[in-house]
Parts: sequence; C-alpha cells; structure tokens
Amino acid sequence: MSQEFDVVVIGAGPGGYVAAIRAAQLGKSVACIEYNAYADPKGEVRLGGTCLNVGCIPSKALLQSSELFDQAQHSFVMHGISVDAPRMDVGVMMKRKNNIVAQLTTGIRGLFKKNKVTLLSGLGSFAGRENERWKIAIARNGETEHVLAEHVIVATGSRARHLPDMPVDNSVICDNEGALSFDAVPKRLGVIGAGVIGLELGSVWKRLGAEVTILEAAPEFLAAADPAVTKEAWKTFTAKQKLDIRLGAKIGKVERVGDGVRIEYELKDEPQVLECDRLIVSVGRVPNTEGLNAEHVGLKIGERGFIEVDAQGRTNLPKVWAVGDVVPGPMLAHKGMEEGVMVAECIAGQHGHVNHDTVPWVIYTHPEIAWVGRTESQLKADGVAYKTGQIPFAANGRALGQGDTTGFVRMYACASTDRILGVHVIGNNASELIAEAVVAMEFGACSEDIARICHAHPTLSEVMHEAALACDKRPLHF
Ligand code: FAD
Ligand code: NAI
Repeated sequence: MSQEFDVVVIGAGPGGYVAAIRAAQLGKSVACIEYNAYADPKGEVRLGGTCLNVGCIPSKALLQSSELFDQAQHSFVMHGISVDAPRMDVGVMMKRKNNIVAQLTTGIRGLFKKNKVTLLSGLGSFAGRENERWKIAIARNGETEHVLAEHVIVATGSRARHLPDMPVDNSVICDNEGALSFDAVPKRLGVIGAGVIGLELGSVWKRLGAEVTILEAAPEFLAAADPAVTKEAWKTFTAKQKLDIRLGAKIGKVERVGDGVRIEYELKDEPQVLECDRLIVSVGRVPNTEGLNAEHVGLKIGERGFIEVDAQGRTNLPKVWAVGDVVPGPMLAHKGMEEGVMVAECIAGQHGHVNHDTVPWVIYTHPEIAWVGRTESQLKADGVAYKTGQIPFAANGRALGQGDTTGFVRMYACASTDRILGVHVIGNNASELIAEAVVAMEFGACSEDIARICHAHPTLSEVMHEAALACDKRPLHF
C-alpha cells in the first residue's frame, strides 16, 4: 500500500522546503520530493533548489571574494595599507563557495530531520486521484513509487531561459550554473542580458580582471528600478567600473570559434561582432512545469508557463497549491519562502497572507541597489501625488569612515497622508538598510514616523533617517 501524507511538497527550493517545514510545525505529516543532484560528489539529491546550489548563495560568496580582491587592489591604499599586487586563486575561491553551499544544503537535511519531514528522492509528478487523495508518482533510476497526499504543494521553481541556436554547454557558453563555476578568470567575458544575473556575475569577473562586455536587448538600463537609481548605477558601473554595457543590442549568430565564442549582433542597425573567451547567457528564467504531468490532472498553466494561483497560492485543482518561481511574481527566494509559509498556514486552517507590495528587491553589485514599494515612474503612471526625500551617503560620517560614499537613499511619501510609498537605496549595505523601509511600509508608516525614530550614530541608517526628514524638507545634516 502507498505511503500517505497530509501534505506532499514537490521541489525542495526555498518555496518548497520552507512550506514543508512550516506544515510540519503545524502538526501535518509531510513529505518533500526532490530530484536534483546538482554537483553533489556522492550523487545524493541536493536540497535548497536554485537558491542554495546555483543561485543566491554561491553568487553572493563569489561577489564577496571578488569585492575583497578589488578592495585590496584599489581601496586599501587610502587607509595607508599597501599590498604588493594581490593575486587571486580561483580554485580556492570556488572551494570556499562550494563549502558554503554544501554546509547550507546539508543544513536543510538536518532541518527536515528535526521537523520530521520525509525526504523522497526522485522526480515528482501527478498520477491521478485515489481514495479522494492525490496520487503522486516519484521516479528514480528507472523505478517509480507512489505516495498519497491530501494536499500537494507544487514548488518546482525555474531554470535559465536559453536562446535558440545558442547551445549552452556550461563550459564556454554558460547559464548561471556554469558561470558560478569558472576554473579561471576569462580574459574576455561576454554577457547577454544586463539584468540582475548579468550585472552581479559580470561584476564578479570584472573585479577579477576580465574585460566584460554586456549586450542588452532593451534600450533602457534596469527598467524595473527607480529612474534616479538607474542613472546613478549606470554612471558607476560604466564610467567608474568600466563595465562595457551596450543597450539596444540585437543578437544574431552565435558560434563557437576555436576555444572561444563569436557573437554577431546589431547596434542601431549597424552590424557588430563580439569575440570572447566565455559567454554568460542571462536573459531571464522560465518556470519548471514539464514533467509534472499537469495536463493529465488538468492543472491550469497560464500563457507564460506559470501555474495560475489565487492570492493564497490555490491552483484550479482542489487542495493543490503552488508557490515560488513556478507562479507569477518576482522570482526571488524570500518571496517564495513567504508563499511557502502562507500556503502551509492556509492548509492548517490559518489565515496565511503575503503582502506582495512590500517584497524587497536587492541587486548585490557594488554599490548595492535595494528597493521596496513603488518607483517614481510607477507613481507617475498611477497618478499619485507624492513628495520626495533624497540624501546622499557623501554627507554621512560612517560612510566617510568606511571610505565608500557612493549613492543615496530616496524616499517617496504620499503628498496628502505622508504614508511611505517607496524607498530606494543605492550604496554600501543597501541590502541591509532596506529592511527598515520594509518594516515601516508593513506597518503603514509615514515618513514622519521614520523621521521621529532615533537612529544610532554613526551608522549608514542615519541616511534613511535624513531621507525621511527630507520628505518634510527639514534634513538636519544636509
Ligand atoms: P527553486 O529554487 O528553483 O527550487 C525548485 C526545486 O524543485 C529544485 O531543486 C528542482 O530540482 C526541484 N524540482 C523541479 N521539478 C521537480 C519535480 N518534478 N520533482 C522533484 N523536484 C523537482 N533570489 C533572491 O531572492 N536573492 C538573490 O540574491 C538571488 N540570487 C540569484 C542568483 C542567481 C544566479 C539565480 C539563478 C537566482 C537567484 N535568485 C535570487 C532567485 C532564487 O534563486 C529563486 O527565486 C528561488 O530559488 C526560487 O525558489 P523556488 O523554491 O521557487 O524554486
Ligand atoms: P532578468 O530578467 O533580471 O534580466 C534579463 C535581461 O536580459 C533583461 O534586461 C532583458 O531585457 C535581457 N534580455 C532578454 N532577452 C535578451 C536577448 N535576446 N538579448 C539581449 N538581452 C536580452 O533575468 P536574469 O538576470 O537572467 O535573472 C533571472 C532572475 O533571477 C531575476 O529576474 C531575478 O528574479 C532572479 N535573480 C535575483 C537576484 C537577486 O535578487 N539579487 C540575483 C540574480 C537573479
């Protein structure tokens, strides 16, 4: 007889593993199915999904290593520290990254054990209904077993979108998986797509010495970010950091030539050629729904390939839920985790909820870029009357002490109610600073609320404080 669970989760990325843990905490019997071994040396299934294995965590490890290398070359000197020509051992950097990944993925196994979540290794798919339960097939090494579930949570995530006629081999032509595992610094690195991955990984290899050229189809740079931030970022990345970003590029033929790649493209209708030693293709991601046997059970998938859900993660099928990258919305690990908690709580009869309006965005370049809420373009498009407070880090004592004064905090508040509508940070530690703005917006705060809160001195958070004061045209230190 098939094993039976209250909840079966398909996929052990941030959306899935968090949903599994939360459902177990709420007293449900839970199993989580995962099939990806990624690069596990023992061939064991690896938990944590894209985020832990080939996404957030390894990219941030490499960003940190390359940032320190860059500082040793360019920033130490202002503190009076001289270092003779620092050298980067890419092997050591990768080993450190791999160890962090292994530590965290193993940690999730521990969390499953602690919370009594049963791990089922294999490819999960819908096999139909049996005894008013969902019958789920788990295929592994040519064999298939079945389990029964009252509730199913689909958390199968996403994978890199590939372009036609551009064979990704993850050695020379790479998506995120290969780009996080280069064995050496390429002399010339090409990147297609100046989105989040293109900028983060382009920065890693640029800091380590590669000549980086990024070809972007859109005529605008970072269209999702606030226009003031985009302008500052463009100036810093291109003029200061010498990232060669070419907007409005129309990619043509891409071919392997010798040990490298030759890319034909058009810029303003003029034919161009880029030759490079390695190419990263980072043109967005697509949801993973193939292999679920969705059509067999009638699971509704929308036009763009995402599973359709309501505001609480319910699909069109009874007691089938979906969370994370496989459903519409920003493809962010924390968004998936919150949805995992929401769905588990709804299954347990609670009032699960995610406020998608306060999901923060962070781009881990240097300077970092982070925001929550609406951009100025969105406020204009929505016809909202707003006031603005913008304060640069250049006026902040802590930023000066750290020797890193690039960027600013920009806050928008409603012109009539003063309620905060959006906060945008470009600068050192923007990823941490944005948390204050998220809390404020979740609590429906006004700019005056932040203006009246005592912020420790000297800290970068004082710039958030001053930006709030500036909304009322009364900054104290600027
Ligand atoms: P995934 O993490 O993709 O996990 C889905 C899991 O389901 C996978 O392990 C997959 O193997 C498994 N699976 C799929 N189909 C089946 C099946 N049929 N049976 C069993 N298992 C299955 N987000 C951030 O918030 N911050 C960042 O800094 C950040 N950096 C990133 C950097 C890179 C290079 C990339 C590529 C992504 C980054 N992201 C970041 C995005 C983040 O990784 C994703 O939003 C997040 O992993 C989505 O979680 P998920 O659980 O929905 O899906
Ligand atoms: P993206 O959507 O951020 O950027 C893709 C870029 O490629 C866009 O600028 C797009 O205009 C461009 N593009 C699309 N087709 C093209 C073509 N044919 N030629 C040239 N350019 C083209 O996607 P990306 O960078 O692949 O990242 C995927 C997702 O992963 C992100 O959207 C984000 O959700 C997540 N992520 C999050 C990170 C973070 O939170 N810090 C870091 C990295 C990824």
